[in-house]
Amino acid sequence: MLDLLGQWKRTHHCGELRSAHIGEEVTLMGWVLRRRDHGGVIFIDLRDREGITQVVFEPEINPEVHEHAHKLRAEYCIAIKGKVRRRPEGMENPKIPTGEIEVAAHDLRILNTSKTPPFPLDEDVEVSEALRLKYRYLDMRRPALMEALRFRHKVAQVARRFLDEHGFIEIETPFLTKSTPEGARDYLVPSRLYPGKFYALPQSPQLFKQILMVAGFDRYYQIVRCFRDEDLRADRQPEFTQLDLEMSFITEEDIMTILEELVARVFKETLGVEIERPFPVFSYSEVMEKYGTDRPDLRFGLELVPLTQIFKDTRFKVFAQVVQKGGIIKGLVAPADFSRKELDDLTAFANERGAKGLAWIKVREGGKLQSPITKFFSEEEIKGLLDALKPAEGSTIFFVADQPNVVNEVLADLRVELANRLGLIPENVFKLCWVVDFPLVEWDEEEGRFVAMHHPFTSPKEEDLPLLEEKPEAVRSRAYDLVLNGIEIGGGSIRIHRPDIQQRVFNLLKITPEEAQEKFGFLLEALEYGAPPHGGFAFGFDRLVMLMLGRKSIRDVIAFPKTQRAQCLLTGAPAPVSMTQLTELHLLPGWDLEKEKKD
Ligand code: AMO
Ligand code: AMP
Repeated sequence: MLDLLGQWKRTHHCGELRSAHIGEEVTLMGWVLRRRDHGGVIFIDLRDREGITQVVFEPEINPEVHEHAHKLRAEYCIAIKGKVRRRPEGMENPKIPTGEIEVAAHDLRILNTSKTPPFPLDEDVEVSEALRLKYRYLDMRRPALMEALRFRHKVAQVARRFLDEHGFIEIETPFLTKSTPEGARDYLVPSRLYPGKFYALPQSPQLFKQILMVAGFDRYYQIVRCFRDEDLRADRQPEFTQLDLEMSFITEEDIMTILEELVARVFKETLGVEIERPFPVFSYSEVMEKYGTDRPDLRFGLELVPLTQIFKDTRFKVFAQVVQKGGIIKGLVAPADFSRKELDDLTAFANERGAKGLAWIKVREGGKLQSPITKFFSEEEIKGLLDALKPAEGSTIFFVADQPNVVNEVLADLRVELANRLGLIPENVFKLCWVVDFPLVEWDEEEGRFVAMHHPFTSPKEEDLPLLEEKPEAVRSRAYDLVLNGIEIGGGSIRIHRPDIQQRVFNLLKITPEEAQEKFGFLLEALEYGAPPHGGFAFGFDRLVMLMLGRKSIRDVIAFPKTQRAQCLLTGAPAPVSMTQLTELHLLPGWDLEKEKKD
């Protein structure tokens, strides 16, 4: 039934043929995308990874082959031989690059048949994601995913070339290793040879890359898989890829400059987009004040304005109580009017995120204010408010009063929500910025101790070192995050390279010397052998590619992603394993496999 390839050799890809090829004999191989019978003439669209060519089987050319072509169905894998000819007038298809020609086939080999695909592979058909994940190989035959993965390859190649040119050496680091403290839960691998002991899959190559600097490699990079067992979202996967790098004898400025050049090169050579440099740099406190988040989306305005001072003696009870309890008030101006229903929706949106209410004031013609709450404000408060916000006629002011973290979280989300609703976010615009001067540590209510905001190897700022013991929350770190269109696409820091300072940071984090020794004694020891000053960075590679392509989820730029519930629908992982495996791994203590076999 099936034909063999035999001596047939492919001459062209399906996306290659143009009118310049007219008259040529060609051999094409690929998959049947569509088949149409037109009064004895059979047309197929033949597809491979490079494109589509129309192939025609006419009884006059070769009756046997024409008969054979009747068997063709969607997704059959075939090879054809034929002659390129111009399509009859009026039959050209300007939508595809091969649209001026067709191939009149005189020979056909059916290399394999196909079951009817569970979804049509035409590009414009919407298919449920679960089905696309289960039949990933069919989804990959569709242009959207095929293009995304080829684009991803290109980004990696441009980055590799750039880093190679700049003296970075690609070195692989282990997957079977010890836990790395990036703050997520570890994936563990039980050891067969050491009962009760485990490897951890790395959350990042952090410790190894630092050790490579101690070794003297000077500049390292790796495009590397990282594993984190955390709650998943559209921009998070349990295994994801970092473009990871580390450099010696440098400062923040050196790293940031080289990273900007790298980003600019990647955008230029893959999308043809010129990225403006230098990227704007914001301090953490600045972005928190203006945007309520350390991942500001700079594609639109709607900045937050602090209003606490204006209302510090207010009669309006809601605000007065908040201010008394050390809370804050912030507001923003949206350039639009909203209906009652829209205001209720937005209030519900704020409530869902923890706000106790969402106050609003509409600015009418002539600057007249309309709001259920202005009656509680003094003239001075209203003047202060208008001076601070400068709202235009026809706009609406929103405010939230609460503890700082609630106000910031609610208004940061509201800002993006409003921008989306009002269509303020331009397409195909890439706004990058650095966020620096992060606090070194933050207080963890649950654990009752300070935890590292980045990771425990991040260097404090030299000038803040005296505060390390007395006022740790005020110590700033030498960390920097890179944000693109409101998403963190990477982060890094200058590391601690002196054992004495590392010890003080561990003390602050309540990591005992024994614990430090047990967890990363190997790094601490390495730092004692002339560790150079060093620092580095890691891009979330999937996120970068996702944003460059304007996709909504990193799953759309990963070949074999997992679901939000961390399952692989293609392979069925995670899956049960046999008693034998569990027993060998010492995970079933007391289980006697030999005895069970005998019973
Ligand atoms: P960090 O933990 O910030 O830094 O990770 C670097 C970048 O990786 C991306 N990222 C993720 N992408 C997809 N799925 C995930 N679960 C996920 N988690 C993180 C983010 C993030 O900015 N060792 C340090 C880097 C350094 O200091 O050099 C590190 O891993 O885009
Ligand atoms: P109330 O007195 O609770 O009815 O609130 C009067 C107005 O203030 C309503 O429009 C509420 O949405 C708003 N409001 C209540 N609490 C807050 C708050 N914490 N922040 C901002 N607005 C609030």
